[in-house]
Amino acid sequence: MRTLQLAAVAGLAAIALMQETQGQTAIQPGVDVHTFANVDAFRVRHVNLDLAVDFTARRLAGHADLTVARLNAKAGTLILDTRDLDVRSVSLIRLGRPPASLPFELGKPRDFMGRPLEIQVPDDVRGEAVVRIDYQTRPEASGLQWLTPEQTAGKKHPYLFSQSQAIHARSWIPLQDTPQVRVTYSATIHAPQGLRAVMSAAHGPADAKPDANGLVAYRFEMKEAIPSYLIAIAVGDIEFRAISPRTGVYTEPAVLDAAANEFADLERMVATCEKLFGPYRWGRYDLLILPPSAPFGGMENPRLSFITPTVIAGDRSLVALIAHELAHSWSGNLVTNATWRDFWLNEGFTVYLERRIVEALYGKRRAQMEDALGLQSLQRNLAELEPADQHLAIDLRGRDPDDGVTEVPYEKGKLFLQFLESRVGREELDRFLRAYFDHFAFQSIYTEQFLDYLRETLLAKKPGAVKESEIRAWVYEPGLPGVAVLPSEEVFAPIDRVRSGWLAGSLATADLPVREWSTQEWLHFLDNMPPQIPPARLDELERTFRLSESRNAEIAHSWFRIAIRNDYEPAYPKLTEYLMTIGRRKLVRPLYEDLMKTPKGAELARSIYARARPGYHPITQSTLDALMGRTG
Ligand code: BES
Ligand code: ZN
Repeated sequence: MRTLQLAAVAGLAAIALMQETQGQTAIQPGVDVHTFANVDAFRVRHVNLDLAVDFTARRLAGHADLTVARLNAKAGTLILDTRDLDVRSVSLIRLGRPPASLPFELGKPRDFMGRPLEIQVPDDVRGEAVVRIDYQTRPEASGLQWLTPEQTAGKKHPYLFSQSQAIHARSWIPLQDTPQVRVTYSATIHAPQGLRAVMSAAHGPADAKPDANGLVAYRFEMKEAIPSYLIAIAVGDIEFRAISPRTGVYTEPAVLDAAANEFADLERMVATCEKLFGPYRWGRYDLLILPPSAPFGGMENPRLSFITPTVIAGDRSLVALIAHELAHSWSGNLVTNATWRDFWLNEGFTVYLERRIVEALYGKRRAQMEDALGLQSLQRNLAELEPADQHLAIDLRGRDPDDGVTEVPYEKGKLFLQFLESRVGREELDRFLRAYFDHFAFQSIYTEQFLDYLRETLLAKKPGAVKESEIRAWVYEPGLPGVAVLPSEEVFAPIDRVRSGWLAGSLATADLPVREWSTQEWLHFLDNMPPQIPPARLDELERTFRLSESRNAEIAHSWFRIAIRNDYEPAYPKLTEYLMTIGRRKLVRPLYEDLMKTPKGAELARSIYARARPGYHPITQSTLDALMGRTG
C-alpha cells in the first residue's frame, strides 16, 4: 500500500517537473550545471592547502593537494573548476615514489563559470591518489577581497578575506566547486608577521617565529566533510575575545569591545538552537566581524561565521542575522543544497530556524515583526520577478547562481515550512526537522530528495494533512499559494496609526513615540512612507532624530531611500559617507538604484561610485557595474 502510494506520488512529482520545464529539455534534479567537474568519474575527498599571503602583489601562492578517488576506472581526465588562476604545474604524489608531473590544460573560459582545468591521470592510479596543483591567484580573484589599511578599522594593516559562495571558491582554490561534493580540508597559511590568519576550521598551532621571508605559518584542519563554498580564510590585524567556553568573536582590536557586547547572547543562541533542532556538531562557534566593505550581511562559514560590522547597532537589535548564520550550522552546513537550484533548502529552512531562535530568545512579538518585515520584502520582490524565478526550485541553467539569490528562497521557503507547521503542529514539525538533520547529516541533497523524505516520514504519519497539489504549488509554481499562512501585520498596526497621524499633521514630530520603538518598528515606520514627503517635514525628521547619522545601518538605509526619492539634499553628505564605507550589497544597491532614477541623482551616483568602487568587494563591484552601465 505504502509503496503504491509512493509510486503514485513519485509519478506526480515527475509530472510537476515536466510541467515546470515544458518546451525545454528536462531539468535533471541533482545535476549541478554550475561546475565543469566530472564528479561521477573522480571525487575529491580532501583538500590540503599550503599558501603564502602576499599583500603587495595581492596574491595567494602555493599549492593545493587534492586527494582524489577514481570512481570510474576508464576515466582518464580529472576536470576541476578554476577562475582566474595561474597554474604553474600539476603533479601526482604517491607514497614511496618521486612526484610525477602530469599533463594539464586550462580550457576556454565560460562567462561566470571560469575555466576547466583538465588533468591527465595515469591509468595505473587506482583508488585514491594525491594530485598537487602549484598555482597562484590573481589580484582580481572574485572570491577574495584585498583591503588597504585605510579600509580597515585600525588603518594600519592590510586585510584579506574570502567569500566563496556560490561559485567563487574556484577563484582561489582549484577544486570540484560544487556543493554536491563534500571534502575535509587542512591548510598551512603563511601570513606576514604581525597579522593573524583564521579559517573555517579548527585552528592548529601557529609557528612561534617567522620564516626567512617574514611569514608566520598558521595551521588549520576541518575534519567534517563540507561543500567547497564553505572553505574560508581571513588575514589581518585580528584579535579574539571569548564569550563562552565554546563561542567568541574575532575582529580588529578597535572593534573588539563593541562586538563582544553586541553578541553577548551568542552562547544562548547556540544552546537554544541545540534544544530545538539537535546537537551542534562543529565544536566551536565563533564570529569574525569583517571590515565594513563585506559584501554580505553574513556568511555561514563553519565554526566561524563571517559577519558585516553593520549589524553592530549598539543595542543588539540586529542580531537576528547572527541567529541566521548560526542556524546554517544545521540547515546548509550539515544538510546542504546539492545544487544552486536547491538553494531554498539552505535559506528557507535557515530563515525558519532563525525566527524560532529569535522567538525563543526575544519573544513572539519580535519574531512576528521580523516575519512581517520579511513578508513585505518578499511581496515587493515578487512584484518584480519573472514568474519562473518565483519557484522555490529555480531553473538556473545558463545563468549565474547569484541570480537565484532573491527573497523567494528565503521568505517563501520559510513560509512553506510555516505552512507545514500549520498543518501538522509545531511539535510534530520540530520532531521532523530534528530527524531530517540527523538523517541527512553531512550530506548534500536536492529538492526532490527532501520532498520524498517529507512524504515518507512526516506526511505518512499525518495522512491527508497536506495535498500533493499544495506541495507542487509551493515548490514548482510562482507566487504564494492561496493556502499560505501569512504572518499577521497586526504587530505594526500602532506604527501605521502613528505614521498616518504624522502625515496628516495631527501628530507632531516631537510627539512621535520613538522612545518605545525597536529597530524593527523604525524600519516599518520608514519603509512604508508615501513616495513624496514635503521638504519641511523631512527637515523635522532629520533635525529631531538625526537619521542620517544613525549608528544603525539599517535605519540609515531606510532613511536615505526616502531622502533620495525626495531629493532631500541635506542628507547627501552623510549618504556619500555611507556609500564610501559600507560595501554590503543589500544596503548599497537600492541606494544606487534609487539615485539612478533621475538625471541629477545619476550624476551624484556616478561621482560617488567612481570614488567608492575601488573599496567595494568584487561581488558588489560587478552588481553595481551592471547597474551603472560600466564595464570592468
Ligand atoms: N549564505 C548567505 C549569503 C550568500 C548567499 C552568499 C548566496 C552568497 C550567495 C547568508 O546566510 C545570508 O543569507 N546572508 C544574509 C543575511 C540573512 C540574515 C538573510 C545577508 O547577507 O544579507
Ligand atoms: Zn543564509
